Amino acid sequence: MSEMNSSKRIAPSILSADFSRLADEIRAVEEGGADLIHVDVMDGHFVPNLTIGPMVVESIRKVTALPLDVHLMIERPDALVDEFIEAGADSLTVHVEASVHLHRTIQMIKHRGKNVGVALNPATSLATVEEVIEEIDLLLVMSVNPGFGGQSFIPKVLEKVRTARRMIDAKGLSTCLEVDGGIKVSNAKNLSEAGVNIFVAGSAIFDSQDYKKTISEMKRAVESAT
Ligand code: DX5
Ligand code: ZN
Repeated sequence: MSEMNSSKRIAPSILSADFSRLADEIRAVEEGGADLIHVDVMDGHFVPNLTIGPMVVESIRKVTALPLDVHLMIERPDALVDEFIEAGADSLTVHVEASVHLHRTIQMIKHRGKNVGVALNPATSLATVEEVIEEIDLLLVMSVNPGFGGQSFIPKVLEKVRTARRMIDAKGLSTCLEVDGGIKVSNAKNLSEAGVNIFVAGSAIFDSQDYKKTISEMKRAVESAT
C-alpha cells in the first residue's frame, strides 16, 4: 500500500449497493473512478446487523480488478482471517474493540502477506492503537457507530482524525488514514485537510443518480484541500 499512501482515494462501500445487481453496481463504481471497493462484513454480534461473508467476497473478486478493502465488524476475527484472504481480500481491517489479542491478529494478517488495518469506534480512544501503530498499514477512524449505512457523520470525529494524522506523522509512518461513515461531497474536503487519505462512502455514492459524477465531485473536493 505504501506507494499510494500520499494519494487521496475514494472507496465506495457496497453496503448501500443494490445486492440483487451487485456485479453491475461494482462495475459502475469502477468505471466511475473508484479506487478501492469497501466491503462491510457484519456478524450480528459486534454490530446489530448481518451482511456478507467470504463466499460473497469470492464472487466480488471475480468481477473487479480493484483492491478489496474488507472491513470486519465481527467478534473473534482471527477465526475468519484465512477465509477472507482466500476469498480475495487485499486488506483486512479488524476492530480494536473486537480483538482481545490485537497484536496477534495483526501479525496473523501480516504473515499472510496482506495489508492490515485497525478500526476504532467513535467512543474508542486513539491511545488504544498506540502500541501497534507501527505494525499496521491502515488506521480506520469510524465517523458513525458501525452497523448501518446512511447515518450522519459525528462532528467530533474531525478532531480525532487530526490527532491521528499528527500521531502518524510524528512517528514518521506511512500508515493510511481512512474515515468511514457519513462521508459526503460536502464534508470530504474538511476531512482531507485533517489528513484523511482514504474516504469510504456508501449512501453518498449508491443513493446518487450518477455514480461517476458523485465520485468525481468527491475526488475534486478531497484534492482541493490545502
Ligand atoms: C458502517 C459501515 C460503513 C457504511 C458507510 O457500519 O462500516 O462502511 O457502509 O455508509 P455511509 O457512507 O452511508 O455512511
Ligand atoms: Zn465500513
